[in-house]
Amino acid sequence: MTALGSAAPVLAPRVLDRCRALVQPALAEAVGRLHPWVGEMAAYAFGWCEVGGAPAAAPGGKGVRQALAVLGAEAAGAPGRAGVAAAVAVELVHTFSLLHDDIMDGDAARRRRPAVWKAYGTGPAVLAGDALFALAVETLAARPGGPAAVRTLSAALGDLVRGQAEDLLFAARPWTGPERVRPDEYRAMAERKTGALLGCAAALGSVLGGAAAETSAALDRAGRHLGVAFQIVDDVLGVWGDPAVTGKPVHGDLRERKKTFPVLVALRTPAAPRLAALLESGADPQEAAALIEQAGGRSAALTEARRHLAAVEAALTAVPLEEGAVTDLRSLLGFLVRRDL
Ligand code: IPE
Ligand code: MG
Ligand code: MG
Repeated sequence: MTALGSAAPVLAPRVLDRCRALVQPALAEAVGRLHPWVGEMAAYAFGWCEVGGAPAAAPGGKGVRQALAVLGAEAAGAPGRAGVAAAVAVELVHTFSLLHDDIMDGDAARRRRPAVWKAYGTGPAVLAGDALFALAVETLAARPGGPAAVRTLSAALGDLVRGQAEDLLFAARPWTGPERVRPDEYRAMAERKTGALLGCAAALGSVLGGAAAETSAALDRAGRHLGVAFQIVDDVLGVWGDPAVTGKPVHGDLRERKKTFPVLVALRTPAAPRLAALLESGADPQEAAALIEQAGGRSAALTEARRHLAAVEAALTAVPLEEGAVTDLRSLLGFLVRRDL
């Protein structure tokens, strides 16, 4: 068993808590300005309340993006206000993208609760997503540095939409033959779908704070590579992860016939015809998992994830950044991809 990522993971919960404490009041204030019904759906999506508005029993997300935004701003020496505004905007957009993503994917559950569209209906969930997006733009536009920050956010969203489109279209492509999805197409999709918003999170506070363009670009690069590494590690966990740790059903991605990185790598080997038949029938995910591993899909995925983590590190050392914030950023990376593989 090889563990991926080396930074001290014990630091990360402290970092996440510190950033959450900075961002939460501003985020709650922004959501509180929405129409009350729309605001309740947003609060439900954040994990703050149950349907009907009673305080939530379960905790919400980890708050990785808001932490990335706060730390990115700190790393660039931007004022604290810029980091908080960036974090609020990024959390709003992330939650918006998840609301709509669950509708697109037909996924009935998120974070072990009914997805917003299941709890409130599809139309209302679309509306709540739109409201969160508008609120994110409003949060940035009102600030000094707003126009540049709105441009950064829109560019990330443009990429996210492209990545989502590719992801949806990949599902209909065959496992083998000239139309099959190649690993490099997958990597580009993952960078857009997941990496663009993480890059935006890391860079947005520096943009708001008026940092040098190279500084923002380096932070954006770090976030994007982190996104790809995270997505690929997620793929590995989707096939070989312990459900007790991941909270996901064992072999879930194989049962759902997802075109994940380890699968796409294995489909480039002589094992392809047998693997394609197995995946298509959905009969024996255990056997498919073993075949993917034998064909080198798992180790190739971990190598690829490590390559992207090295690129994160290279981006973080390419420009002068505040040392303390970079230490916290590293602990966050270690936390995200530390899971034993
Ligand atoms: C979600 O992608 C990414 C965006 C919302 C852009 P996925 O569909 O792959 O992720 P989960 O499994 O629903 O979170
Ligand atoms: Mg989804
Ligand atoms: Mg999706």
